[in-house]
Amino acid sequence: MDSIPMLVFCFISFLIVRTATPTDTINTAQFIRDGDTIVSAGGTYELGFFSPGKSKSRYLGIWYGKISVQTAVWVANRETPLNDSSGVVRLTNQGLLVLLNRSGSIIWSSNTSTPARNPVAQLLDSGNLVVKEEGDNNMENSLWQSFDYPGNTLIPGMKVGRNIKTGMDWYVTSWKSPDDPSRGNITGILVPEGYPELLLLEDSKPKHRAGPWNGLQFSGMPQVKPNPVYIFEFVYNDKEIYYTEQLHNSSRHWRVVLPQSGDIQHILWIEQTQSWLLYETANTDNCETYALCGANGICSINNSPVCNCLKGFEPKVPRDWDKTDWSSGCVRKTALNCSRDGFRKLRGVKMPETRKSWFNRSMDLEECKNTCLKNCSCTAYTNLDIRDGGSGCLLWFNDLIDMRTFVQNEQDIFIRMDASELAPPTPTLFGVFAFHHRRSPFITGVCTPLIRCLYNSSLSILACIGKVFTCCLHQEHKRLPVACATNNFSVSNKLGEGGFGPVYKGTLTDGREIAVKRLSKNSRQGLDEFKNEVKHIVKLQHRNLVRLLGCCIERDEKMLVYELLPNKSLDFYIFDETRSLLLDWPKRYNIINGIARGLLYLHQDSRLRIIHRDLKTSNVLLDYEMNPKISDFGLARSFGENETEANTNKVAGTYGYISPEYANYGLYSLKSDVFSFGVLVLEIVSGYKNRGFHHPDHHLNLIGHAWILFKQGRPLELAAGSKVETPYLSEVLRSIHVGLLCVQENPEDRPNMSYVVLMLGNEDELPHPKQPGFFTERDLVEASYSSRQSKPPSANVCSVSVLEAR
Ligand SMILES: *[C@@H]1O[C@H](CO)[C@@H](O)[C@H](O)[C@H]1NC(C)=O
Ligand SMILES: *[C@@H]1O[C@H](CO)[C@@H](O)[C@H](O)[C@H]1NC(C)=O
Ligand SMILES: *[C@@H]1O[C@H](CO)[C@@H](O)[C@H](O)[C@H]1NC(C)=O
Ligand SMILES: *[C@@H]1O[C@H](CO)[C@@H](O)[C@H](O)[C@H]1NC(C)=O
Ligand SMILES: *[C@@H]1O[C@H](CO)[C@@H](O)[C@H](O)[C@H]1NC(C)=O
Ligand SMILES: *[C@@H]1O[C@H](CO)[C@@H](O)[C@H](O)[C@H]1NC(C)=O
Ligand SMILES: *[C@@H]1O[C@H](CO)[C@@H](O)[C@H](O)[C@H]1NC(C)=O
Ligand SMILES: *[C@@H]1O[C@H](CO)[C@@H](O)[C@H](O)[C@H]1NC(C)=O
Ligand SMILES: *[C@@H]1O[C@H](CO)[C@@H](O)[C@H](O)[C@H]1NC(C)=O
Ligand SMILES: *[C@@H]1O[C@H](CO)[C@@H](O)[C@H](O)[C@H]1NC(C)=O
Ligand SMILES: *[C@@H]1O[C@H](CO)[C@@H](O)[C@H](O)[C@H]1NC(C)=O
Ligand SMILES: *[C@@H]1O[C@H](CO)[C@@H](O)[C@H](O)[C@H]1NC(C)=O
Repeated sequence: MDSIPMLVFCFISFLIVRTATPTDTINTAQFIRDGDTIVSAGGTYELGFFSPGKSKSRYLGIWYGKISVQTAVWVANRETPLNDSSGVVRLTNQGLLVLLNRSGSIIWSSNTSTPARNPVAQLLDSGNLVVKEEGDNNMENSLWQSFDYPGNTLIPGMKVGRNIKTGMDWYVTSWKSPDDPSRGNITGILVPEGYPELLLLEDSKPKHRAGPWNGLQFSGMPQVKPNPVYIFEFVYNDKEIYYTEQLHNSSRHWRVVLPQSGDIQHILWIEQTQSWLLYETANTDNCETYALCGANGICSINNSPVCNCLKGFEPKVPRDWDKTDWSSGCVRKTALNCSRDGFRKLRGVKMPETRKSWFNRSMDLEECKNTCLKNCSCTAYTNLDIRDGGSGCLLWFNDLIDMRTFVQNEQDIFIRMDASELAPPTPTLFGVFAFHHRRSPFITGVCTPLIRCLYNSSLSILACIGKVFTCCLHQEHKRLPVACATNNFSVSNKLGEGGFGPVYKGTLTDGREIAVKRLSKNSRQGLDEFKNEVKHIVKLQHRNLVRLLGCCIERDEKMLVYELLPNKSLDFYIFDETRSLLLDWPKRYNIINGIARGLLYLHQDSRLRIIHRDLKTSNVLLDYEMNPKISDFGLARSFGENETEANTNKVAGTYGYISPEYANYGLYSLKSDVFSFGVLVLEIVSGYKNRGFHHPDHHLNLIGHAWILFKQGRPLELAAGSKVETPYLSEVLRSIHVGLLCVQENPEDRPNMSYVVLMLGNEDELPHPKQPGFFTERDLVEASYSSRQSKPPSANVCSVSVLEAR
């Protein structure tokens, strides 16, 4: 029995390809054994056995022939490694390349659909291993080629896409690790449905999307743009759809690798240094996460939070959005009425997913629009190709998925909207409404238009608010026909006294309840300035901010209209022995986090930077689910010092919450809000007010008390009165710690709000706080007497500016 394998072995030895006479081809009578290779005609690529990285297994693969660093670009038996160097490759008479192990079992094989007559296998100088009929150099007739089965690497000439004629898909799959070429869980494919686009999958779930090709580039991959090194191409014809890259100088070496991280790498060989250069890698930020913001959401990496609804849409499940789970996406504020819809143009964005899209290459934009209008489920359209002024038509149906802002994409998308959502721009409205109100079509009938209402850029609501306010004034006007009044701003409807004046409850004609704040008359601000400021603040939208709906102006009378929050303000609960029981720790923690996010939004919103200047428990309102909403922001400049001075003493802001630098020098910065936030956190945790805090053992205020307990290693005693259950103690501890970091004496020692949100949200170790500022009541009293003309402690403290245009 021994003699037969021995014979076979001799036979093999006799016919194996000798490295001494390199060749690029084997026929059915030849073999390649471990240790031998074949080399492409120009010497660019080499095929043989190798072990990747630290692996000891043997693989049949193709690597660069002229590069000292062994770099595999293709692997045959990636799933079936050889245990030893006994592997042999041969070509069968049927035209199949087979890889045999020691016992002669086939552990890998190529395949073909066409029977072969006189097959040969040749390694081309492109790196493509081809099985074909001898002498037939027409690639179209090849029986099999390695380029059809990429691994984790694309070299020039390889494609990702689909052969429409054969139905074959070209796709890439990551290696499990640099030592293990077996399939990882990242795959790069072309989705052929709708208008084809490239997609990365992780375990068959979409991970990143390239965006549709716009004639010049992918709308979601601005980094792939014209460059001196490579040419990229998206080909879509009757035979095939694919993406491919070529080098400008084809004698260089270039590969595109899909690593297990999913961040595609473009790698160039540098002759001078004899090393590979990572020429370009996808910068996959959070907004690249597929459909992060859900249906009809849009991701903007510079915003905080990153997700917003497209204009005219609102969160479907606001509670999830509060928790930064945006996956439920957005729904229209106003449903489409198929017959009177228009479009809102959006530019500088990554186009939505095209899996369910429809396209026509010959339509122009006008035909495209009309085609969309004719089909009630069409939600958006764009030019397919933006070159030469634009051509072709791409339509979307139903939800728009996975959009982000990308200023680099110069493609306009037109999103279908109900006509009511497409009001003319606000400046026009202002003119019409504010200055020609008596002729305004919205103010009709029995009511005397005494107060004009501005705002909400949308026409319909403006009309609605306008009607209400023309009728429903405060008590002086109670002689107006009730017929037209939905409510009276009478004393009985007074909700309370806010920072800038009394607050009344009201109801809009559509049933929405509102809070109306009547501002004191002696604001130093001019009317235009006031309107301008309101206009900006109305646009601010965040779960944790009370929404300003609009304002009313009549002579020296100004009113602000807010959404009404039923459950009063935070101080109503936390400082009351009985009511505080309604706020268990999870609710309190939710409130702390919500305030942090709201404040972060104010501080970092992309258009405005708003310093609140008067953050305190009574300015944190609660919605019906006890979610916090910050109120009274942004108007501090308009209704600044004079009014608030009446409520406090000399210094704007509220004692107990103001930071040392403000009390001492009148300097206010984002970090002063952080200080107030820190006080708020300590108050929420302890249930005590900072100001007026008494302790039998010392004369410190709440900040000082918290600091002493923290230093003595008993911080949890601060929460003693709040009856916190054991599982939550680490959150309590973290809150106290963050609170103390926020009330540091020096503004520079205080974290910014994005760091606060981060610290509250994860388990990382926190920096150690130093002794806080203002930790006795006396400090504060002294500060309030000290001169506000003194020099600031450091030039880095920002000036008093409430609204800074970015
Ligand atoms: C490697 O060896 C193991 C057992 O040692 C065997 O099960 C496996 O099939 C071998 N693999 C190949 C490709 O020969
Ligand atoms: C060769 O491969 C076969 C099939 O994988 C396996 O059963 C056998 O053990 C392998 N032989 C050797 C010597 O590894
Ligand atoms: C060849 O094998 C691949 C999988 O390895 C398969 O997808 C393809 O359909 C096969 N082609 C033919 C012609 O059998
Ligand atoms: C994919 O593989 C990586 C590492 O191999 C792993 O961390 C990740 O969890 C995997 N993804 C899925 C969805 O299983
Ligand atoms: C192309 O690249 C090769 C190898 O790097 C280099 O020698 C040659 O000069 C380049 N040709 C041009 C036109 O840049
Ligand atoms: C659409 O709007 C028109 C005109 O405003 C109206 O007559 C029609 O009833 C509306 N249709 C729907 C479905 O709302
Ligand atoms: C594409 O648009 C052109 C021009 O409007 C039209 O003639 C053609 O029928 C359309 N093709 C399809 C498939 O709708
Ligand atoms: C609208 O377009 C969708 C998707 O292409 C199609 O299924 C539906 O039949 C079209 N409806 C009409 C009325 O044309
Ligand atoms: C408004 O006030 C008047 C007088 O106080 C009262 O008669 C009327 O019922 C009130 N209307 C509403 C809707 O409350
Ligand atoms: C605000 O107060 C300052 C100083 O007390 C005073 O000069 C100014 O006139 C006041 N402004 C208004 C509008 O009352
Ligand atoms: C503006 O109007 C839209 C649509 O009528 C409405 O959904 C939105 O809540 C309004 N915004 C404000 C600030 O009132
Ligand atoms: C909050 O308001 C809602 C609706 O008005 C009410 O049902 C709920 O009892 C209130 N919760 C508290 C704690 O007052």
